[in-house]
Amino acid sequence: MPDFATPPISPFAIRFDAEAATLSPEGPTLERRMSDLEGLFADHDAWQAAVADGDPVVYRVQSSPVPEADRELPQSITTIERGTTAGECWMTKGHQHPNHQGEIYLALHGTGGLLMFDGDRVEWLDMTPGTIGYIPPGWAHRSVNVGDEPYSFLAVYPGGAGHDYGWVLEHGMGNRIHRTGDGFALRPYSA
Ligand SMILES: [Fe+2]
Repeated sequence: MPDFATPPISPFAIRFDAEAATLSPEGPTLERRMSDLEGLFADHDAWQAAVADGDPVVYRVQSSPVPEADRELPQSITTIERGTTAGECWMTKGHQHPNHQGEIYLALHGTGGLLMFDGDRVEWLDMTPGTIGYIPPGWAHRSVNVGDEPYSFLAVYPGGAGHDYGWVLEHGMGNRIHRTGDGFALRPYSA
């Protein structure tokens, strides 16, 4: 598997293919299976059944070679598969940046949303191709596939921001996103 480049990095061009959801040249690709999302879906039994039933890939993150290192500006493309677990739309784990810094997501393909939570306030942005969602410092963020095909977005973020996944397990994300007959609905986190 390709690895991250080692700084200092010379200037270089990165091409992205919105349809294929790939960056070139490639860095590492991260795969998140259902078993990696323990404690995140409301229905634990449904989550456990999905793990036992093939443990499907929920999303993949393909990075460029720019590393997650302080002062660098890494990029990645995340693709979330279409699916639900007890009605809850498939999603990323969600994280807070331990070092509070902003980030942008650019929707590339499919229909998704960006759920943000600062521990008090919750915000939802509809994400369709061409939309940039801005994540301000201090807001935990999770992407959700609410459409009928894979949802892909490009992320650009400060390399020193870090990923705190435990924050979401402790504080939740404010809302849960459920598929409904004619679309999706935001419901309270405890529901
Ligand atoms: Fe982030």
